[in-house]
This record gives sequence, C-alpha cells and structure tokens, in this order.
Amino acid sequence: MALLASRIADLGTENAFKVGDDIARVLARGMEVVKFNLGEPDFDTPAHINREAIRQIEAGNSHYCDPAGILPFRKAIAEHVSRTRGLEVDPSRVIVTPGAKPPIGLSMMTYLDPGDEVIYPSPGFPIYESWVTYVGAKPVPLQLREERGFACGAEELAPLISERTKLIVLNSPSNPTGGVLSKRDLTGIAELVREKAPADVRIYSDEVYEHILFDGEEHRSIASQPGMEEKTVIVSGHSKGFAMTGWRMGWAVLPTPKEAAIFKQLNINLISCVPPFIQEAGREAYQSAESAAAVDKMVRAFEERRNWVVPALNAIPGITCQMPKGAFYVFPNVAGACEALGIPEAHAALPEERRRKVCQSAMFQMYLLYRYGVATMDRNSFGHIGAEGQHYLRLSIANRMEELEKGVALMKRAATDREGFAAFMEEEKLWS
Ligand SMILES: Cc1ncc(COP(=O)(O)O)c(C=O)c1O
Repeated sequence: MALLASRIADLGTENAFKVGDDIARVLARGMEVVKFNLGEPDFDTPAHINREAIRQIEAGNSHYCDPAGILPFRKAIAEHVSRTRGLEVDPSRVIVTPGAKPPIGLSMMTYLDPGDEVIYPSPGFPIYESWVTYVGAKPVPLQLREERGFACGAEELAPLISERTKLIVLNSPSNPTGGVLSKRDLTGIAELVREKAPADVRIYSDEVYEHILFDGEEHRSIASQPGMEEKTVIVSGHSKGFAMTGWRMGWAVLPTPKEAAIFKQLNINLISCVPPFIQEAGREAYQSAESAAAVDKMVRAFEERRNWVVPALNAIPGITCQMPKGAFYVFPNVAGACEALGIPEAHAALPEERRRKVCQSAMFQMYLLYRYGVATMDRNSFGHIGAEGQHYLRLSIANRMEELEKGVALMKRAATDREGFAAFMEEEKLWS
C-alpha cells in the first residue's frame, strides 16, 4: 500500500511562496535582492482597521463564532456587493473564509465530479489549475492573449464550452496580467453562457482586485449581467484592496442559500470559523468613512508606478509590455530577451526530464535572480497546461519607486548579457 494518496501527485502549488527558498540562497551569498515576486501591497493595513481589531480583542471577542461568518460582517459584505454590483444580496448567501483563496477549493469540492470540465484563465492564479487536477476534473485552460490585453470574451470562450462544462473561472482584474474584462466582454460572455453552457454551470468570478483599477475605471462583475447572479459565485476579500494579506480574510457570495450552506459545512470541516475580531475589522473596512481615502492612496501609487514601469520595460531590447488596467502586476513578454541570451538553445540542451518541467521564462527568471538579484515570477507559475512557447515574466509593482528603478535597470543589463547567462548555466547547474 502506498503511503500517499495518489491524488496528492495532482496537487499544484503557488510558486510565489516557493521562490522564497531561491531568494534566501541568493541573500545568503551576500547579494541584495529586488523583490518583484510578491503579490501583496507594500502598504500596511490602514490604522483605523487595526484599531478596530485591537478594540475587539481587548473586549474579549476571541471565541469560536458562526462558521458562515458573523452576521454583522456578512451584512456588510452583502451591502457592499449589492451596492457595487447592482444586486440584492441577502447575508444568507454570504460565507466568510480565511482569504480569497479558500473559496477556489471549496467551489471545486462543491461542484465537481471527476471528468467535469473547468474553463479557467491561463496565465491565471495557479491555484485554479491546482484544484482542478486535484479533484480529478478536466482542465480546459483559456489561453489569454497579449494582443487582447489579456482579456477574453465570448469569442475566446465559445470554442471551449461543452456539455461537460461545470465551472467557468473569470478573474478581473487579473493576476498575473492586470487584464480587465470590458463591459463588452462581460455582456458577450453572459450571452454565451445563457445560450450555450449547460443549465447548471457555475461561474467562479474572482474579484479580489476589485478595488485596484486604473484610468478612472470602475469595477464590473459578470454577476451584474442579466441571468448571471443565479449562476455566479462572487469571490473577493480584503487582502489586496485593504492591504490585509496576513489577516486571512475573504468571502464568497453563493448563488443560493443552499449552496452557501455547503460552503458553511466545508468551513466547519476545515477551519471552524474565521476569528471574530478579524471579521469585525473587515466590517470596519467596509463601513468606515476613512477607508475610501486609504484605498485610493494605494491605488494612485500603483497607477503612478505602472505609468513609469511599462515604458521603462518597453525600452529594454527584447521585452515588450502591455499596459495593465488593474491589479498591481505587469506581465512583460520576454521572448526577444530569451532569444538574445541564448535561452532557447540552453533549454533544448537540458536533459529531457528537466526540459519538460522547466520553461524558458523560468530559466530567465532564475538567471535574473541568481546573477542580478531581481526576483520575478515565470509564465508557468500561472498555469502550465498548454503554455508551451509562451515567454513571460510577472513583476509585482507593489514596491517602492526606487526599487522599481533599480530592478528595471538591472533587468536591462541582464537582457543583453549573453556571457553572463552562459556563465550562470555553467556555474549554477540548477537543471542538470
Ligand atoms: C486572483 C487571486 N485570487 C485569490 C488570491 C488569494 O487571495 P488571499 O490572499 O486573500 O487568499 C490571490 C492572491 O494572490 C489572487 O491573486
């Protein structure tokens, strides 16, 4: 009998957490590292939210609570969603989770049987693909295209829908591309789902970057489209918009109270509850008059950095970069730089098993980190199925301007240092 369940082999991961080991190794050599790998705001949680959590702890609000989430917070979420999406959401459809990540697994456990098909964006948040394979469902990656600004609409989605389609994942604004679905995209997708998708299909709408939009754009949800509220699991949380990544607070609005009850039951089985003082702080984030200014300050900073970093990356030979419309990432195409460095040849020369596991952008990523002290994420860290031949990096711009300037200058030097890449391959032997 094998020690491990066979499904463990199908569980993926989030490399943004794993790359920390390589960074630690580089730091231990005495090098400095510019960190473009982290997907979290470089701001601290706004003071008024912190104060509410402290007040709650001191008042003794530190016991078990409702596994669905405390009612005052679920009410605040329902009000927020109703107001911003033009819906009428009742708190009985809201479930609070430790972060916006858990609802991914909860949804896959709730809706999928082996063989059911899941359409999800690629590049996309890696946990989608991880859970699809883990539960034995069939991954159907929707390859987002650079020339479409990494958005997608009915045209891209239609060929992927089949009678086995059970879940369609949307993520706008997107990690890792910063792509945003336009009104037209959403209208088209809704029409397609109404007409072509199986009746019991569910849309998983990951809206965790709902607050981080540029150029005066407002957030739009697929759930606001006619007939979509009853098919959509709307998910968001406080990690990104309120700089609360370490608090672990997210939520899902389910299509029906019955489905919400299943999420509640899964919460009971997995976590019991999210700490009540954390939820009170989350409620405060939605209800305090001080929140809007705090969020706006961060978003303006991300926008300013985006406006600097995109032209700076485009000025590097071999790199082209789209202007993201939201979130705090840029997703440059580095195919030309890989070519200039001799990465395609080095990749072709890897032992076969290594070659299958490592992509060219990962070789560029590790070269940047080990030789130049710039930590980024490679294309395949955002879904690897069907990603062959795509050469991108993700850079988080949730970093100070000086760091951005330093990191981009280093990338510029690295992108033309062919000898440096050859020496890196020779000396580090990461994949031999
Ligand atoms: C698209 C997307 N969904 C969900 C999450 C998870 O968020 P949380 O930290 O709140 O669990 C992230 C975090 O990076 C994300 O980028």
